[in-house]
Amino acid sequence: MPDSEIYKRQAAERAIALVRPGMTLGLGSGTTSRHFVDLLGAKVRNGLEILGVATSQDTERQARGLAIPLASLDEAPELDLTVDGADEIDDALHLIKGGGGALLREKIVASASRRMVVIADISKRVARLGRFALPVEVVPFGLVATTRHLERAISGLGLGGAIELRRRNDEVFITDGGHYILDCGLGAIADPAALAAALAFIPGVVDHGLFIGLASAAIVAGPSGVEILGTIE
Ligand code: A5P
Repeated sequence: MPDSEIYKRQAAERAIALVRPGMTLGLGSGTTSRHFVDLLGAKVRNGLEILGVATSQDTERQARGLAIPLASLDEAPELDLTVDGADEIDDALHLIKGGGGALLREKIVASASRRMVVIADISKRVARLGRFALPVEVVPFGLVATTRHLERAISGLGLGGAIELRRRNDEVFITDGGHYILDCGLGAIADPAALAAALAFIPGVVDHGLFIGLASAAIVAGPSGVEILGTIE
């Protein structure tokens, strides 16, 4: 296993220790969350009773394969804990998410949770968000007009960089919600909250990968061990 996978696994193992019988759990998406769901599946096999809400069709498939009991968010609209990965985490626990395209459901599920704990390998820790291109989820209708609004909002905040429509295998990438993703290579984002607010005003933008004030803790594993940011319990 490459080092990064070992670290992801270690972060997921630490997060599993937060799970208590009877909890309703938001199940994140991506390669790090996959480790958590695997470990959760093993616990369920050994008799742990929890109820999961998946943040993507991929995670739902994985959880079903492991016989983890699942509910929709409408059936379980208040969750005890969500454990999810991130593409970047800064010192204030602001995140960039959406590298896998699941940001919309991830944000809805995290917002419905009493606690969101991020699990990550050390490569995700940054002093300032923005090295990772910010995913912005948009409706297909009016793509060009929405992209122009987006460019104006970004330059109005003194940011710049390429905006690319996400593709996968030569096809436009479609999210679980039937939307497109625009990946915005912005460079260092001085004021993530101001950017989040500006993006939220653009018609056609469904949501974006800035998670501000949602994560209560992050478990970050690296060569010198597991570091906890924020309040974990
Ligand atoms: C999915 O859309 C994302 O928000 C993931 O949570 C994020 O990209 C982290 O993914 P990895 O754990 O695969 O790095």
